[in-house]
Amino acid sequence: MSITPQNPVAVAQSIIASFQTLPTIPAAATRAIQLLNGPDPDLSEVADIILADQVIAARVIRIINSPLYKLLHEVESVKQALIYLGPQKVFEIILTSCFLELTDSRTLAGIRPQSCWEHSFGVALVARNLAELSGVVKPEMAYVSGILHDVGEVILMHYRQDQFREAVQRSVERELDLHDAEREIFGTTHCEIGALLAAQWHFPELLTQVIMHHHADQMELKSPLIRVVQLADQICSDVRLKCSMDVEVPGVGAGVYGAHLPALEKQLAQLGVTDMDAFRKSLAQMVDHVKAAVQAIYP
Ligand SMILES: [Fe+2]
Ligand SMILES: [Fe+2]
Repeated sequence: MSITPQNPVAVAQSIIASFQTLPTIPAAATRAIQLLNGPDPDLSEVADIILADQVIAARVIRIINSPLYKLLHEVESVKQALIYLGPQKVFEIILTSCFLELTDSRTLAGIRPQSCWEHSFGVALVARNLAELSGVVKPEMAYVSGILHDVGEVILMHYRQDQFREAVQRSVERELDLHDAEREIFGTTHCEIGALLAAQWHFPELLTQVIMHHHADQMELKSPLIRVVQLADQICSDVRLKCSMDVEVPGVGAGVYGAHLPALEKQLAQLGVTDMDAFRKSLAQMVDHVKAAVQAIYP
């Protein structure tokens, strides 16, 4: 009798069903993401909605007052923060803080959660930059998608620590992509897990699709948002901003591409980004910003 491999979505469903408590993200964050996905979002309205949540507000104020933002005066209220930093920055901080709520500064199962956060933040910044340079998608949605694209990884890391560590180890030892190692070990990947949760959290369909398909090789009619996030993801992995084990892997240095330079530049050109020198320069700045942010948030 041959064993038929199980459908990865069904496996992901049964993994999620086995959780004793379901991971949640604040309802206010979901509302903000939905608003942001609508036509012509008013960012100060978005910030207002979210900041009615006291826990989020306190966290946001803490991040704003961290060395990252180098403000001259300590900010005590969200209203002040909006004035100093503008709604766009405040929204990004809010989203970042919601994501941090899912992660944890402790080293989990031999994984450095801050490396995963570095990766997500890096992908968010690069995706937004690509959105701005190419004009194919809204920069805010590119940012949100970058922060959340690997949310399934964070969930597996917390709820299936041992197996997740095994997946990371296997991906390092056999030079596999992490999602391929996950598929071998779990029978599913962080993409299916993340997308199912995104649907439960009522994320916009566009964002759920990014989470589901950001590692798809061949996909007819891949949406521009998926292409932007996929490319940003590959660029970040190439500059060593990726989820890693508790030992820090020496990086190749900001602004230097890894082994996939020609393929990445071809894809950048297809997206309409042609000034590679300018892009590399901004990439170096983004990598520095990510490192500084992680230092500020995970002291
Ligand atoms: Fe991923
Ligand atoms: Fe990723």
